[in-house]
Amino acid sequence: MKVAFVGIGRMGLPMAGNVLRAGHDLTVFNRTASRCDPLRDDGATVSTTAAEVVRDAEVLVTMLADPAAVEDLLESEEGILADAPEGLVWLEMSTVGPTAARRFHDRAADAGVKMLDAPVSGSTAVAEAAALVSMVGGDAAALERARPVLEAMTKAHFHLGPSGAGAAMKLGVNVIIAANAVAISEALVMAEDADIDRAAAYDVIAAGAVASPFVDYKRGAFLDPDGTPPAFALDLMRKDLKLALEQGEAARTPLFGATASAEAMTVAAGLEGGDADLVKVADALRRIAAGPSKS
Ligand SMILES: NC(=O)c1ccc[n+]([C@@H]2O[C@H](COP(=O)([O-])OP(=O)(O)OC[C@H]3O[C@@H](n4cnc5c(N)ncnc54)[C@H](OP(=O)(O)O)[C@@H]3O)[C@@H](O)[C@H]2O)c1
Repeated sequence: MKVAFVGIGRMGLPMAGNVLRAGHDLTVFNRTASRCDPLRDDGATVSTTAAEVVRDAEVLVTMLADPAAVEDLLESEEGILADAPEGLVWLEMSTVGPTAARRFHDRAADAGVKMLDAPVSGSTAVAEAAALVSMVGGDAAALERARPVLEAMTKAHFHLGPSGAGAAMKLGVNVIIAANAVAISEALVMAEDADIDRAAAYDVIAAGAVASPFVDYKRGAFLDPDGTPPAFALDLMRKDLKLALEQGEAARTPLFGATASAEAMTVAAGLEGGDADLVKVADALRRIAAGPSKS
């Protein structure tokens, strides 16, 4: 199929690579053009505008930071819907929450484009292995058309209902991920405070009742936070938790865990930098426990 891919970031790069490897005809666009270089080397076409990338596509994939990034690419004169062909299916795979997803869906419908919210669970390593799990909201016939592209990037996808359903489910999943990141950080630092070796403590967590794929694929990063490249930025998780809290507020559902996780992520971003990985919550705890620096 002819696939357009917009947003070649930490997740977009491996996802687009898998679309290419599955044999699709891939054209890509990224605001910072140099991030497309590895895909060009592998045979993708690189466009200079988002409008151009979409012009001949059957399926458009977007993997952007947040609702504002999608909005920017919708608003721009050379944006993703400017020249979109009638009947295009748009897989919006960023984490944007249900309110923005439904807004983008309606904008797309005005342009004759079918948008599916299809955010993913997994991290960069999971994306590289084409083993993401996608949560889909929107039209079933459009999903059928886009399925070969979705299958190139995921090990499973779930059609959960109309527009916004996938985006809403994704926020729930990230409430769990955030709670895990905070809880593992606290457990590790508690163990270290009791003079238990960090790796030995992690072995216990990974072998016990709370073992999970997340615990497994974050092992290297939790053991060596400075020596592991960031995979999921604290600022992106703060954005997800803000969206989750808005969703809870709208439904009058109190989200006690998400509230606590958001506070922990904000403190960690302040101490470690918002682009640091969410495992840096543990470093923030270590830094706080060590007390103010004398330098
Ligand atoms: N990382 C993970 O483990 C993970 C897992 C599941 C879901 N997600 C979600 O997936 C999405 C992408 O995450 P990521 O980790 O790949 O983030 P990332 O590495 O920061 O990439 C963000 C992408 O959005 C683009 N972008 C940001 N603002 C823009 C704007 N105003 N206009 C145009 N493009 C803009 C960036 O372009 P530039 O290159 O020009 O900055 C880049 O391509 C997020 O919604 C995130 O919450 C992430």
